[in-house]
Amino acid sequence: MSRLDAFLARLHAQKAILEYVAREIAGVPGPVLELGLGNGRTYDHLREILPGREIFVFDRAVSAHPASIPDGEHMIVGDIRETLAYCGPRVKAQAAFIHCDLGTGDPTNDLARGVWLSPLIRERTAPGGYVATGVRLDLPDFDELPIPPGLEASRYTLHRKR
Ligand SMILES: C[S@@+](CC[C@H](N)C(=O)[O-])C[C@H]1O[C@@H](n2cnc3c(N)ncnc32)[C@H](O)[C@@H]1O
Repeated sequence: MSRLDAFLARLHAQKAILEYVAREIAGVPGPVLELGLGNGRTYDHLREILPGREIFVFDRAVSAHPASIPDGEHMIVGDIRETLAYCGPRVKAQAAFIHCDLGTGDPTNDLARGVWLSPLIRERTAPGGYVATGVRLDLPDFDELPIPPGLEASRYTLHRKR
């Protein structure tokens, strides 16, 4: 698969998975955590499909489109390895949904990220909460759910905490 095809598959899957999870978390309290603001595309979509849900966004820098930048209280700047571990004073509740868009496409780098990300994401997810991730995570107290059909090429996985 060319990188262009892989990119398109990822965008297509992101939209479908975010919309699926937005419906599923209707009864799960807690904020949404967006890991990786990037250009702000998925953040912008999340706030559109989840009006009224508090969304905290993490990135090491703010370089998004100006129309897709969270307010200062909800933009958590720094290395996620530290900010996710110590975000408790701002993100007071466990998350109903964590969207992890930190994949690099490099298998070694992604494997290493999965190792430090997994325990942080486990700790920050509410019981019954969802995680959608482009980086493979080790989440033993979660069920891995099938992703909506046709989206397998995205390499996204979907998990729900027991
Ligand atoms: C693929 S982009 C996110 C794209 C975004 N979701 C969108 O739709 O526009 C990944 C982002 O994660 C950020 N990132 C990667 N590793 C990080 C880390 N360890 N700490 C903080 N930010 C990180 C990068 O700076 C980059 O902006």
